Amino acid sequence: MRVLVLGSGQGSNAKAILEAQNNLLLGNAQVVGIISNIPSAGIIDIAEEYSVPTALISCSKETGKLEINETEDLTQKIKMFSPDLIVLAGFMKIIPSDLIDIFPNKIINLHPSLLPSFKGLNAIERAFNYGVKISGCTVHCVNAGIDDGPIIAQAPVRRMDTDTLEIYTQKIHAAEHVVLPLTIANLSMNPNYQC
Ligand code: GAR
Repeated sequence: MRVLVLGSGQGSNAKAILEAQNNLLLGNAQVVGIISNIPSAGIIDIAEEYSVPTALISCSKETGKLEINETEDLTQKIKMFSPDLIVLAGFMKIIPSDLIDIFPNKIINLHPSLLPSFKGLNAIERAFNYGVKISGCTVHCVNAGIDDGPIIAQAPVRRMDTDTLEIYTQKIHAAEHVVLPLTIANLSMNPNYQC
C-alpha cells in the first residue's frame, strides 16, 4: 500500500510512521512521499532525514480553505505519487470535496481530540481549558466536513490534575504516535477497507 503523508507542522507523526516502517511495524504499507504547504515545516526535514521524496504546494494562507488553483496543484502533486492511502498528519488546509471525489475512500485524517468533541484548530488547548478529564486522538476518514467522517480509531488520554497544558499535549502526541502507524498498518492488511 503506497502511503502519501500530507503535513504542515513539525512532522512528529510522519516520523512515527517512518520509524514504524523501519521497524517493520507498518504492515504492507510504505511511505512513498510527503507533501507540505509550508517550505520551512519540520515535516520536510523529517522527509529528508528518512530519504522520502517531497513536494511542496504554495498556498496564499497557512490554514483554511485551498483556493481553486491550489487544489489543482495539490491534486497534480498527489497523482505524481500514485498513492493508495493519503494520510493527513497535521495538514492544516481544508481538503475540498472535489479533491475527496478524485481520491474516494483514500484520505484519512489525524485529529488531537476524541471526535466529535473539539473539532477544528487548537483542539488540545480547548479541551484542556474546558477542563475535560479525558480527551485523546482520532483517526477518521475524510469527508466534506471539517474533522468529520467515519471514525477508524481512537485512543483516550486521561488528564491528571497535575498535568500542565504542555504535559497533556505531550501525552496526546505520544498517543497519536502509536495510533496513527497502527491504523495505517491495519488498513494495509485489509485492502478492502472502505472509508
Ligand atoms: C497533530 O497533533 C495532529 O493531530 C494535528 O496536528 C498535529 C501535527 O503534529 N492535526 C490537527 O489539529 C488537524 N485538525 P506533527 O506535525 O508533529 O505530526
